[in-house]
Amino acid sequence: MQGEVRLEELTKKFGDVVAVDGIDVQMPPGEFFTMLGPSGCGKTTTLRMIAGFERPTAGRILLDETDVAQVPAHRRNVNTVFQSYALFPHLDVAGNVAFGLKYRRLTKQEQRLQVKEVLELVQLAGFERRKASQLSGGQQQRVALARALVLAPRVLLLDEPLGALDARLRRDLQVELKALQRDIGVTFVFVTHDQEEALTMSDRVAVMRDGRVEQAGSPREVYEEPRTMFVADFLGVSNLLEVDAVGEEHSRCVLRLGDRTFLAEQGETDARGKLKAMIRPERIGVEPHGAPGDNRLPGMVERAVFLGGSYEIHVRVLGGEMLKVAMTNEGNPLTFGLEQGTPVTLYLPPDALRVLRPDPEPDAGDEEGQTAPAAVA
Ligand SMILES: Nc1ncnc2c1ncn2[C@@H]1O[C@H](COP(=O)(O)OP(=O)(O)OP(=O)(O)O)[C@@H](O)[C@H]1O
Ligand SMILES: [Mg+2]
Repeated sequence: MQGEVRLEELTKKFGDVVAVDGIDVQMPPGEFFTMLGPSGCGKTTTLRMIAGFERPTAGRILLDETDVAQVPAHRRNVNTVFQSYALFPHLDVAGNVAFGLKYRRLTKQEQRLQVKEVLELVQLAGFERRKASQLSGGQQQRVALARALVLAPRVLLLDEPLGALDARLRRDLQVELKALQRDIGVTFVFVTHDQEEALTMSDRVAVMRDGRVEQAGSPREVYEEPRTMFVADFLGVSNLLEVDAVGEEHSRCVLRLGDRTFLAEQGETDARGKLKAMIRPERIGVEPHGAPGDNRLPGMVERAVFLGGSYEIHVRVLGGEMLKVAMTNEGNPLTFGLEQGTPVTLYLPPDALRVLRPDPEPDAGDEEGQTAPAAVA
């Protein structure tokens, strides 16, 4: 199978700005690989280097084991779909899709056939003669996708391709795009700053920060087993508790919070001293006030938000911290009220409590955000 991308120590500097800071990633053939990170972390720059629009300052880009440093963009067998579709408004759909084929030696008949096939793939059969300017945003994005796919690239690079669409259409297209990728087996390198999008679509996600890959893994891994607070925070709601790690019991970490003791099984269970423990909202149990047992914490409901499929409950706990709890709406009336001021007990299961080492990153205000290199496995 073809379409493997490997980045080795890839670096790009623009003058003093280090946009990409020595990243190592392997994108297996046929995978949906996502680079996720906040604005300015170097996603687009990385993509542009793979595409050949930008020359690396250092490091290597390997496409199917071949170093492509000296290969010009149009000969890389890689294609890009951008956030702005950049269609030719005066050309019709077929004309836009066929544009890239002009440079291939095809008969008119062959060209028409290929355009037809790819339009069926993106569910735009019958739109051949429609002008690009007469299409909706979602349809335009599909034409842009078809235009890239008709060239049968080994690797398709997508830079926030759904960014300009409204939420509903965006979700529909996420599902479609993922299904399409699975069918055609082309390697997708997808860039987004939307964590939900990354989790739902990808086979693997690389979480980027300040030009580096902070953690790479399956969506489940980066969500369930974040190695740093940054990753935990970036991938959705995470509750952080300030605790004191005081010892060990049956290879679980013993944490103290006020006069209470908790056991934690996940993360850096060897760490000691003041640190943070993390738990996802959906892993916290809400019990009636005074419920007995270990790993329990009293609190007071401050707010309960009905979200349709679930409730988000904000509970102020001992020590003053606010924890967010997600409860699925199972159609049954709740056995106890959730009005503001209701005292409750929260259960934090040991296998859901993760000990995080504090980020080694400096606080805001440090010189130009220079940071020590993070350990990347
Ligand atoms: N041509 C350039 N000249 C100078 N600096 C640049 C250039 N292109 C990008 N940068 C800088 O490099 C860093 C990474 O930019 P990049 O566009 O890769 O970020 P990004 O992760 O794609 O962000 P966004 O989510 O906002 O698109 C930023 O600090 C940016 O200002
Ligand atoms: Mg970008």
